[in-house]
Amino acid sequence: MALFGSSTRDVPATSAVPRHVAIIMDGNGRWARKRLLPRFAGHHRGVETVRAMVRACLERGIEYLTLFAFSSENWRRPQEEVSLLMDLFVHALKDEVGKLDRNGVRLRVVGDLSRFEPGLQTLIHDSERGTAANSRLVLTIAANYGGRWDILQAVNRMLHADPGKVGEWRESDLAPHLAMSYAPEPDLFIRTGGEQRISNFLLWQLAYSEFYFTDVLWPEFDSTVFEAALLSYRQRERRFGRTSEQLIGSPTAPASPTGPRIDA
Ligand code: IPE
Ligand code: IPE
Ligand code: MG
Repeated sequence: MALFGSSTRDVPATSAVPRHVAIIMDGNGRWARKRLLPRFAGHHRGVETVRAMVRACLERGIEYLTLFAFSSENWRRPQEEVSLLMDLFVHALKDEVGKLDRNGVRLRVVGDLSRFEPGLQTLIHDSERGTAANSRLVLTIAANYGGRWDILQAVNRMLHADPGKVGEWRESDLAPHLAMSYAPEPDLFIRTGGEQRISNFLLWQLAYSEFYFTDVLWPEFDSTVFEAALLSYRQRERRFGRTSEQLIGSPTAPASPTGPRIDA
């Protein structure tokens, strides 16, 4: 059984503040290049934005923050950049886990971790275990993650769990095997850096998420830009396939025609 409803099988309850925000943190390289710095300086600076975003989510009562840190296609980058990114991941984990824990943050990492160095895999597992009792905010880092990988690994596990069900599998058989089955589907998806694409992020889970694109580069993303994204989200009418008229008087109806369009 999945813990949370599905946006296609049920109409999820919505609120003025998104429960789950998922972000493609893009534009680090361009931020650095604009300053005539090596690309890595942008990644380094990007960690500070991560810190600020965790704080912003804690302050606003957002329950799930999911950050795309390294895609299954990012191995195609120059070897030097890949290995610097791995080192940065190790250092950031070591430096931040204690503070995350003190702030009630549970850390989870999703993706095909088998391709990482054993030392990094151990660090990830220890960090996840060390924060497992926290529930104020679930911070998920997607690392060596790909939406297609996620769906395929879920299909494989689903087939293994009940091989005799040929031709009868349903969405509810697959969803519990997805890497993020512990979280509701993202309410708000943000991509920084100006590109308007998903780049193989959460393909299944973004089915009914609200999308927000900004040209701001990740190292410059701050609470003002985040607030603009949240404001835009509040003004959306989340219909999940229904008509506007149907929303009036429904549990997920807009609060008022002039106020926030999503009920609190
Ligand atoms: C995002 O920034 C971080 C990762 C993909 C690891 P980029 O490195 O993609 O920055 P740009 O898009 O080249 O500016
Ligand atoms: C997406 O950014 C992946 C991450 C932010 C980790 P990319 O910079 O890799 O995406 P593309 O290549 O521009 O689509
Ligand atoms: Mg990029």
